Amino acid sequence: MARDIPFVDPHIGDEEVQAVSDVIRSGKLVEGEKTRSFEQKFAKFTETKHAIACVNGTAALHLAMEASPLQPGDEVITTPFTFIATSNSILFTGAVPKFVDIDKDTWNLNSELVEQAITPKTKAIMPVHIFGLPADMKAFKDIAEDNDLFLIEDAAQAHGARIDGTHVGGFGDLATFSLYVSKNLISGEGGIITTNNDELAENIISLKNHGRTPKGGYEHIQVGYNYRMYDVTGAIADIQMNKIDNLLERRKETAKQYRKIIDEIPNLGYQQIPNGMTHGNYIFAVDTRDHEIKPEEAVKKFREKGIMTRPIYSKLSYQQVNFKNIGNWRWAKFVDYPDYNTDNCILAEQIAVNHFEIPVVPSLNKEEIEKVKSAVSEIFT
Ligand SMILES: Cc1ncc(COP(=O)(O)O)c(C=O)c1O
Repeated sequence: MARDIPFVDPHIGDEEVQAVSDVIRSGKLVEGEKTRSFEQKFAKFTETKHAIACVNGTAALHLAMEASPLQPGDEVITTPFTFIATSNSILFTGAVPKFVDIDKDTWNLNSELVEQAITPKTKAIMPVHIFGLPADMKAFKDIAEDNDLFLIEDAAQAHGARIDGTHVGGFGDLATFSLYVSKNLISGEGGIITTNNDELAENIISLKNHGRTPKGGYEHIQVGYNYRMYDVTGAIADIQMNKIDNLLERRKETAKQYRKIIDEIPNLGYQQIPNGMTHGNYIFAVDTRDHEIKPEEAVKKFREKGIMTRPIYSKLSYQQVNFKNIGNWRWAKFVDYPDYNTDNCILAEQIAVNHFEIPVVPSLNKEEIEKVKSAVSEIFT
């Protein structure tokens, strides 16, 4: 019987199984050889000086925030159209998320609006490469330099995303990637931070390992965490690096076919890719803003055809209950938060309720891709 066509399907082969088994048999389960090898491959892949692995993408964001010069109460400008970990990580250290609207075509943070939103309290910008499409990092880099702001790329979804041929991860002061099971490159749970700054790299290595000195041992020079990667998961990521180009190519080819079919359907759309940008194709999202069929109905119809689809961020970050109840957060006693109930990023709100993902995982075979394409045509024409 044909399988339901999935939107998450970890691409794990015999090599990963062998690598994990080797680590388990070696008894060296904590961060070690495999993780080091993965880090080296990832730095090469992203053309960055340092790549530092850790337990997951949220920990990577937390470490980035801890390593930044941000003080409690400082504002960090970010997008509300993202996974909640982006803004949560800003809250972790007492900084204050300031949400700015997204671009109507790319669905990424709008650089012009960011520039207008800067106040004396603004100390950092955190763009997200949403669904794998790079944010306008050249503009953000200029804005950050002109206004003396720290720049963190949330690249959790953006393995394979490039700007004028350069991989994301080195445009900001720091960048963070997730290796969660659904991502373009996986380890199950996992994260990695990239930077071209030696000092930041050294600090992050210490912060993720109990604030140790580079020598290791029981010398602790600052408060730190235990966010080390397991070598078992490092081994999976290490093998995945050998396949990443192929995995990305398959996603790219499928996404290209979807764009072609959607171009033929009136009033249906997708995220637009600006010139010079390469989409990592982590998620292929259909845009129903101008179509009478909305995501909820579409998802049901795809389901009847054995195709799994889903809306992603139908609630923006500031629409989540944790922001509605921000007064309950431990830092609320010490810093002033804006009234997030009055935030209204109009374009983000429209896209939030008017997009859903269709499967673009590398395991799709030719027939499955054709089945998804036919379903898109039938449901929306
Ligand atoms: C944009 C974004 N930021 C951060 C994260 C957090 O990564 P993790 O799930 O590995 O903690 C994710 C994960 O899905 C994400 O999509």
